[in-house]
This record gives sequence, C-alpha cells and structure tokens, in this order.
Amino acid sequence: MFQDLINEALETGRPYIKEGEVATYIPELGRADKNKLGISIFCRDGSRFSCGDTKDRFSIQSISKVISLAVALEVCGFDMVFENVGMEPSGDAFNSLIKLEGSNSHPYNPMINSGAIAVASFIEPKVSFEEMLELARCFCQDDGIVLDEKVYRSEMSTVARNRAIAYLLESKGVINGNVEEALDFYVKMCSLSVTAESLAGLGLLLANDGVDPSGKRLLNSDTVRVVKTIMLTCGMYDGSGEFAVRVGIPSKSGVGGGLLSVVDGKMGIGIYGPSLDAKGNSIAGRKILQFLSSQMKLHIF
Ligand code: DON
Repeated sequence: MFQDLINEALETGRPYIKEGEVATYIPELGRADKNKLGISIFCRDGSRFSCGDTKDRFSIQSISKVISLAVALEVCGFDMVFENVGMEPSGDAFNSLIKLEGSNSHPYNPMINSGAIAVASFIEPKVSFEEMLELARCFCQDDGIVLDEKVYRSEMSTVARNRAIAYLLESKGVINGNVEEALDFYVKMCSLSVTAESLAGLGLLLANDGVDPSGKRLLNSDTVRVVKTIMLTCGMYDGSGEFAVRVGIPSKSGVGGGLLSVVDGKMGIGIYGPSLDAKGNSIAGRKILQFLSSQMKLHIF
C-alpha cells in the first residue's frame, strides 16, 4: 500500500534528525522543534497521502524563490529575468557574495539569495506583496497561508548580509529601483507560513504543468518548465549536484525545514523537517526523498 510506503519513508528519514540542527541565524527559526517530521503527497488523480507533522506551520523561506521566479517569468518575461540573473548552479552557499564580485556580476541563479533578491526587485514595482500572498494561497491550495510577523521581524533584525547583497546588486546595476523595498519584499516572501500539505499542493501544480486540480491554468507551460529545470539544477544550493544524482527529482529547500518536490506528471511532495544539514537542506527530508525515489523509481532518468 502507498500509505505504508510513505510511513516507512518517514521512519527511514527520522534517525538522521539528530545529525542536523535547526537554523539559528534567523533567531525565530531557532525556536523550531527539530524532531518534527512530516510528508504529504498530492497525486494528479486527486489522491492525497500524509504522514507525521503535515499540518504544522513553518516559514517557507527559500521555497518562496520558486513562487517568485514563476511570477517574475509571467509578469516580467523570460528575457528580462535572465538578462539580469543567470541559470547556472553557483556551487557556493545560498547566502554567498563571492561570485558577485567576479567578472560575471550577475547572480548565478534565482534560487540563491542574490538571485532571489534581484527577482524580488523586478516583481515589486508590478505586483504588491498582498497580491503575491494571494497567488501563494492559490498555487498551494491553502487559504491558511499568512505572513508570519515574528519570522519577518526576526529576519529583518538580522538582515545585514542580505542587505549587503542587495546594495552590491544595486552597485552592479542589477537592481535599479528601491533597494530597501526589494529587500522587504524578499523577506516577506520568505516569511510566508506554510505546511507540508501546502508544499505538496504547490508541487502538484508544477507537476501538472501549471494547471490546478480544478482544471484552471494558473501558470504558463513555459514558466513551469523553466522553474522545474532551475529547481533540478539549483534547488538544493551547493548540494544540488549530489541530490540530482541520488534523488533525481526537481526540489527546493528552505531553512525553515521545508522541502518541495515535483514528480513530473505524477505528484507533488511536501516535507517538513527543520533539522538541517550543513548546506541548509532538511537532513531527514533528503533521506526520505532518496528512499521514495529508489522504491518508486521516481528518478527522472
Ligand atoms: O535569506 C535568507 O537567508 C532566508 N530568508 C532564506 C534562506 C534559505 O531558506 C536557504 N535555504 N535553504
């Protein structure tokens, strides 16, 4: 039975929790219970499976980069986005500034902080945060998503590094508008409160080519293809290559402990596991996906 397999997958990941730590560089995230673990799977045929802590709310963090990229592609267009942000894995930590000072002054990709702050600056003059919140609710099929004010304030009080990135981007001409507004927009997007179920909903939308379960198209096919490709190559930061080899499912992690995965044409997977590895990816989540990928032959190759 599929439910039994999911239960087994969760238990396969659980022993690894102790090898990781919750993020503390955003103080509010340090309050998470590192033993929480949950997985939700929403399938294209309408069936849904959940196990563990799948209704707990946590902040979406970097998984919002997927939503922002999708909206930027729709609203600003492919050329505008990728003239200013690259498509290559950086091989560096998600909050790195190193490559911004090299000969290529553009952020390497939209899944790292520099790229996402640039993307936020492109969207912010065209789409309000309130509209983004509504879009996030639609994409995730979750009306319960709100701005987690505590996380937002906590991140804004420790935002120096991202602020440095944002001003460096302004100096390079990547950000042309109001830097502080772009930064605020970026942090608000990271502070959306989701559940493993909401991430499964988002995953299903992407797995289903941008069409929601009611049959309504929310995103263009081209947008969805680009987003999934960037998730595959860059979604797990400097762990993206190994993850692609071992798991082979386009995924995106967040330091809140969330993990979004897209099994193309089949299902969306959402995981909550706030104990992170050194690269900022859910440590148990990685193992759960590795197990499911091999048991269900979900690797794209
Ligand atoms: O900007 C930051 O550092 C966080 N708001 C998001 C980072 C993140 O989620 C990286 N993920 N693994």
